[in-house]
Amino acid sequence: MESNKANPRREKTGVLLISHGSRLPESIETINRLANMYREYTDFKVGVAYMELREPNIPTALDDLVKNTEIDTIIAVPVFLSHGMHTTRDIPKILGLATDNHKDTANQDGHKHDHNHGHHHHGHDHNHESEKVSFNGKIIYTEPLGADPLLVEIIKNRVNTALNDC
Ligand code: NI
Repeated sequence: MESNKANPRREKTGVLLISHGSRLPESIETINRLANMYREYTDFKVGVAYMELREPNIPTALDDLVKNTEIDTIIAVPVFLSHGMHTTRDIPKILGLATDNHKDTANQDGHKHDHNHGHHHHGHDHNHESEKVSFNGKIIYTEPLGADPLLVEIIKNRVNTALNDC
């Protein structure tokens, strides 16, 4: 829980939660509920964006987040379990963080298969890849959720609930 509300940096910092996006309403409810729960614990302005399939996309959500504010720093959190092509290639590109060198390196590292796979796994256009944020401030891009002990607690809860329901 953050508490240092006196820090002027905090008033100039926004948090953008980036979810994959889905056509199913359930996934939207989940990320919105997560965002609302987080808002209860923070004085940061918090926005939600979708990588694809849903609006707002990342540029639109970022615009909304900083509009009429003094925000000059965005902490962008990919709400993904682990890294994949979206978190390593697509999202940094949209955020304007990816360099050509970076992309070349990724391809040379053998991600070409994943790259091709990624273009087909949803069966939809990736037009969003041409969009970029217009935000001129600083963007700090965090790691995804990862192998965190807190997630193990969730797995334990799911298993225990399933057992209790047997
Ligand atoms: Ni995808």
